Amino acid sequence: MSSSEYARSVVAEISSHNLDTWVRPGTLTKEAEESVRGHIHQELTSWIFYRKLAADCSRANIALHGFAMLWERSAMECMHDMHWMEKYLVTRGGRSKPTAIEAPQVEWPDNPVEPLHPCQEAFTVEKKLLEDLERLCSLAQKTGETALSDAIQRRFLRKHSKHIKNLADLIQQVARVSKQPGLGLYLLDRELRKHTGMIPWDAVNDPDIQDKGIELLNKRISEGLGLGGMADHCGRVSSPVDL
Ligand SMILES: [Fe+2]
Repeated sequence: MSSSEYARSVVAEISSHNLDTWVRPGTLTKEAEESVRGHIHQELTSWIFYRKLAADCSRANIALHGFAMLWERSAMECMHDMHWMEKYLVTRGGRSKPTAIEAPQVEWPDNPVEPLHPCQEAFTVEKKLLEDLERLCSLAQKTGETALSDAIQRRFLRKHSKHIKNLADLIQQVARVSKQPGLGLYLLDRELRKHTGMIPWDAVNDPDIQDKGIELLNKRISEGLGLGGMADHCGRVSSPVDL
Protein backbone atom coordinates (compact mmCIF):
# COMPACT_ATOMS: atom_id res chain seq x y z
CA MET A 1 0.00 0.00 0.00
CA SER A 2 1.43 3.38 -1.00
CA SER A 3 1.74 6.12 1.63
CA SER A 4 -1.08 8.16 0.07
CA GLU A 5 -3.40 5.12 0.02
CA TYR A 6 -2.52 4.48 3.66
CA ALA A 7 -3.30 8.12 4.56
CA ARG A 8 -6.65 7.87 2.75
CA SER A 9 -7.56 4.69 4.58
CA VAL A 10 -6.72 6.26 7.98
CA VAL A 11 -8.88 9.32 7.16
CA ALA A 12 -11.73 7.04 6.02
CA GLU A 13 -11.49 4.95 9.16
CA ILE A 14 -11.44 7.91 11.57
CA SER A 15 -14.25 9.65 9.68
CA SER A 16 -16.51 6.64 10.11
CA HIS A 17 -16.26 6.88 13.91
CA ASN A 18 -18.48 8.87 16.25
CA LEU A 19 -15.78 10.75 18.17
CA ASP A 20 -18.20 11.62 20.96
CA THR A 21 -18.04 7.96 21.96
CA TRP A 22 -14.25 8.23 22.20
CA VAL A 23 -14.56 11.25 24.48
CA ARG A 24 -17.40 9.85 26.55
CA PRO A 25 -16.36 7.71 29.55
CA GLY A 26 -18.21 4.46 30.14
CA THR A 27 -19.17 5.69 33.61
CA LEU A 28 -21.30 8.52 32.20
CA THR A 29 -24.62 6.69 31.92
CA LYS A 30 -27.67 7.83 29.91
CA GLU A 31 -29.43 8.49 33.21
CA ALA A 32 -26.59 10.75 34.45
CA GLU A 33 -26.53 12.60 31.13
CA GLU A 34 -30.29 13.14 31.33
CA SER A 35 -29.90 14.42 34.91
CA VAL A 36 -27.21 16.91 33.84
CA ARG A 37 -29.61 18.16 31.15
CA GLY A 38 -32.33 18.32 33.82
CA HIS A 39 -30.15 20.54 35.95
CA ILE A 40 -29.36 22.78 32.97
CA HIS A 41 -33.12 23.19 32.50
CA GLN A 42 -33.60 23.94 36.19
CA GLU A 43 -30.90 26.64 36.13
CA LEU A 44 -32.66 28.24 33.16
CA THR A 45 -36.04 28.11 34.90
CA SER A 46 -34.45 29.68 38.00
CA TRP A 47 -32.81 32.31 35.79
CA ILE A 48 -36.16 33.50 34.39
CA PHE A 49 -37.67 33.39 37.90
CA TYR A 50 -34.94 35.73 39.24
CA ARG A 51 -35.25 37.97 36.16
CA LYS A 52 -38.95 38.37 36.98
CA LEU A 53 -38.22 39.28 40.62
CA ALA A 54 -35.55 41.80 39.51
CA ALA A 55 -37.96 43.38 37.01
CA ASP A 56 -40.74 43.60 39.65
CA CYS A 57 -38.46 45.23 42.24
CA SER A 58 -37.33 47.81 39.64
CA ARG A 59 -40.92 48.99 39.01
CA ALA A 60 -41.68 52.52 40.21
CA ASN A 61 -44.53 51.17 42.30
CA ILE A 62 -42.11 48.98 44.29
CA ALA A 63 -38.69 50.68 43.83
CA LEU A 64 -36.66 48.23 45.93
CA HIS A 65 -33.47 48.67 43.94
CA GLY A 66 -31.24 46.86 46.43
CA PHE A 67 -33.44 43.77 46.16
CA ALA A 68 -33.51 44.21 42.36
CA MET A 69 -29.70 44.10 42.33
CA LEU A 70 -29.70 40.95 44.45
CA TRP A 71 -32.08 39.16 42.06
CA GLU A 72 -30.07 40.42 39.06
CA ARG A 73 -26.98 38.81 40.57
CA SER A 74 -28.88 35.59 41.31
CA ALA A 75 -30.14 35.44 37.71
CA MET A 76 -26.64 36.04 36.37
CA GLU A 77 -25.28 33.22 38.52
CA CYS A 78 -27.92 30.80 37.23
CA MET A 79 -26.92 31.72 33.69
CA HIS A 80 -23.23 31.15 34.47
CA ASP A 81 -23.98 27.79 36.11
CA MET A 82 -26.13 26.73 33.18
CA HIS A 83 -23.36 27.70 30.75
CA TRP A 84 -20.74 25.83 32.76
CA MET A 85 -22.88 22.69 32.98
CA GLU A 86 -23.63 22.74 29.25
CA LYS A 87 -19.94 23.09 28.40
CA TYR A 88 -19.09 20.30 30.82
CA LEU A 89 -21.73 17.99 29.32
CA VAL A 90 -20.33 18.46 25.81
CA THR A 91 -16.73 18.08 27.06
CA ARG A 92 -17.63 14.65 28.44
CA GLY A 93 -19.15 13.52 25.14
CA GLY A 94 -22.78 14.35 26.01
CA ARG A 95 -25.37 16.21 23.94
CA SER A 96 -27.39 19.32 24.66
CA LYS A 97 -31.15 18.89 24.20
CA PRO A 98 -32.87 22.07 25.41
CA THR A 99 -36.51 21.92 26.49
CA ALA A 100 -39.06 24.74 26.87
CA ILE A 101 -38.69 26.94 29.96
CA GLU A 102 -41.82 27.39 32.04
CA ALA A 103 -42.86 30.98 32.78
CA PRO A 104 -42.52 31.93 36.47
CA GLN A 105 -45.77 32.37 38.41
CA VAL A 106 -44.32 34.68 41.03
CA GLU A 107 -45.52 38.29 41.34
CA TRP A 108 -44.05 40.77 43.85
CA PRO A 109 -47.08 42.18 45.74
CA ASP A 110 -47.22 45.97 45.40
CA ASN A 111 -50.41 46.93 47.20
CA PRO A 112 -49.09 46.90 49.84
CA VAL A 113 -45.44 46.07 49.00
CA GLU A 114 -44.91 42.68 50.64
CA PRO A 115 -41.43 41.15 50.34
CA LEU A 116 -41.78 38.06 52.52
CA HIS A 117 -43.63 35.78 50.12
CA PRO A 118 -41.34 36.37 47.08
CA CYS A 119 -38.24 35.98 49.28
CA GLN A 120 -39.62 32.67 50.48
CA GLU A 121 -40.19 31.64 46.86
CA ALA A 122 -36.56 32.53 46.07
CA PHE A 123 -35.46 30.36 48.99
CA THR A 124 -37.50 27.42 47.62
CA VAL A 125 -35.97 27.88 44.15
CA GLU A 126 -32.47 27.86 45.62
CA LYS A 127 -33.22 24.84 47.80
CA LYS A 128 -34.51 22.87 44.81
CA LEU A 129 -31.32 23.67 42.89
CA LEU A 130 -29.22 22.34 45.75
CA GLU A 131 -31.34 19.19 46.14
CA ASP A 132 -31.09 18.50 42.42
CA LEU A 133 -27.31 18.87 42.54
CA GLU A 134 -27.10 16.52 45.52
CA ARG A 135 -29.19 13.97 43.63
CA LEU A 136 -26.98 14.33 40.58
CA CYS A 137 -23.85 13.98 42.69
CA SER A 138 -25.00 10.77 44.38
CA LEU A 139 -26.08 9.35 41.00
CA ALA A 140 -22.60 10.07 39.61
CA GLN A 141 -20.99 8.43 42.63
CA LYS A 142 -23.18 5.35 42.23
CA THR A 143 -21.93 4.77 38.67
CA GLY A 144 -18.30 5.56 39.52
CA GLU A 145 -18.42 8.84 37.56
CA THR A 146 -15.95 10.52 39.93
CA ALA A 147 -15.05 13.38 37.58
CA LEU A 148 -18.68 14.56 37.51
CA SER A 149 -19.28 14.17 41.25
CA ASP A 150 -16.01 15.97 41.98
CA ALA A 151 -16.90 18.81 39.59
CA ILE A 152 -20.33 19.24 41.21
CA GLN A 153 -18.91 19.21 44.71
CA ARG A 154 -16.15 21.70 43.96
CA ARG A 155 -18.11 24.11 41.81
CA PHE A 156 -21.65 23.94 43.11
CA LEU A 157 -22.45 22.27 46.42
CA ARG A 158 -20.54 24.54 48.76
CA LYS A 159 -21.66 27.68 46.94
CA HIS A 160 -25.34 26.66 46.90
CA SER A 161 -25.32 25.64 50.58
CA LYS A 162 -24.06 29.14 51.38
CA HIS A 163 -26.85 30.71 49.29
CA ILE A 164 -29.45 28.76 51.27
CA LYS A 165 -28.16 30.13 54.58
CA ASN A 166 -27.86 33.67 53.17
CA LEU A 167 -31.44 33.58 51.93
CA ALA A 168 -32.76 32.12 55.19
CA ASP A 169 -31.07 35.03 56.99
CA LEU A 170 -32.69 37.42 54.51
CA ILE A 171 -36.14 35.93 55.16
CA GLN A 172 -35.60 36.32 58.91
CA GLN A 173 -34.58 39.96 58.51
CA VAL A 174 -37.46 40.69 56.11
CA ALA A 175 -39.89 39.13 58.60
CA ARG A 176 -38.38 41.21 61.40
CA VAL A 177 -38.62 44.53 59.57
CA SER A 178 -42.08 43.71 58.19
CA LYS A 179 -43.61 43.81 61.68
CA GLN A 180 -43.69 47.59 61.29
CA PRO A 181 -44.08 48.50 57.61
CA GLY A 182 -41.99 51.29 56.11
CA LEU A 183 -38.60 52.31 57.46
CA GLY A 184 -37.21 48.82 58.17
CA LEU A 185 -37.71 47.62 54.61
CA TYR A 186 -36.22 50.85 53.27
CA LEU A 187 -33.10 50.37 55.44
CA LEU A 188 -32.71 46.71 54.46
CA ASP A 189 -33.05 47.63 50.79
CA ARG A 190 -30.54 50.46 51.24
CA GLU A 191 -28.05 48.02 52.78
CA LEU A 192 -28.44 45.69 49.79
CA ARG A 193 -28.08 48.68 47.44
CA LYS A 194 -24.91 49.78 49.21
CA HIS A 195 -23.45 46.30 48.59
CA THR A 196 -24.64 46.37 44.94
CA GLY A 197 -26.94 43.43 45.55
CA MET A 198 -24.39 41.24 47.33
CA ILE A 199 -25.57 39.73 50.61
CA PRO A 200 -23.92 42.00 53.22
CA TRP A 201 -23.41 39.14 55.71
CA ASP A 202 -22.05 36.70 53.12
CA ALA A 203 -18.52 36.68 54.59
CA VAL A 204 -19.85 35.97 58.09
CA ASN A 205 -21.58 32.84 56.76
CA ASP A 206 -18.57 31.61 54.78
CA PRO A 207 -16.43 29.10 56.73
CA ASP A 208 -13.59 29.49 54.18
CA ILE A 209 -13.38 33.26 54.65
CA GLN A 210 -13.53 32.77 58.43
CA ASP A 211 -10.71 30.26 58.10
CA LYS A 212 -8.60 32.72 56.09
CA GLY A 213 -9.26 35.40 58.73
CA ILE A 214 -7.93 33.10 61.46
CA GLU A 215 -4.90 32.21 59.31
CA LEU A 216 -4.18 35.90 58.76
CA LEU A 217 -4.52 36.63 62.47
CA ASN A 218 -2.14 33.78 63.32
CA LYS A 219 0.32 35.08 60.72
CA ARG A 220 0.20 38.57 62.16
CA ILE A 221 0.68 37.29 65.70
CA SER A 222 3.70 35.18 64.72
CA GLU A 223 5.17 38.04 62.68
CA GLY A 224 4.65 40.35 65.61
CA LEU A 225 6.37 37.94 68.00
CA GLY A 226 9.24 37.29 65.60
CA LEU A 227 9.97 40.91 64.72
CA GLY A 228 8.96 42.48 67.97
CA GLY A 229 6.45 44.67 66.16
CA MET A 230 3.25 43.43 67.80
CA ALA A 231 0.55 45.99 68.38
CA ASP A 232 -1.17 46.22 71.77
CA HIS A 233 -4.93 46.51 72.17
CA CYS A 234 -4.70 50.30 71.58
CA GLY A 235 -2.81 49.81 68.32
CA ARG A 236 0.61 50.90 69.74
CA VAL A 237 3.50 48.94 68.21
CA SER A 238 6.17 47.87 70.70
CA SER A 239 9.87 47.62 69.85
CA PRO A 240 11.86 44.41 70.67
CA VAL A 241 13.37 46.27 73.67
CA ASP A 242 9.92 46.93 75.14
CA LEU A 243 9.13 43.24 74.88
FE1 LIG B 1 -26.67 27.48 40.28
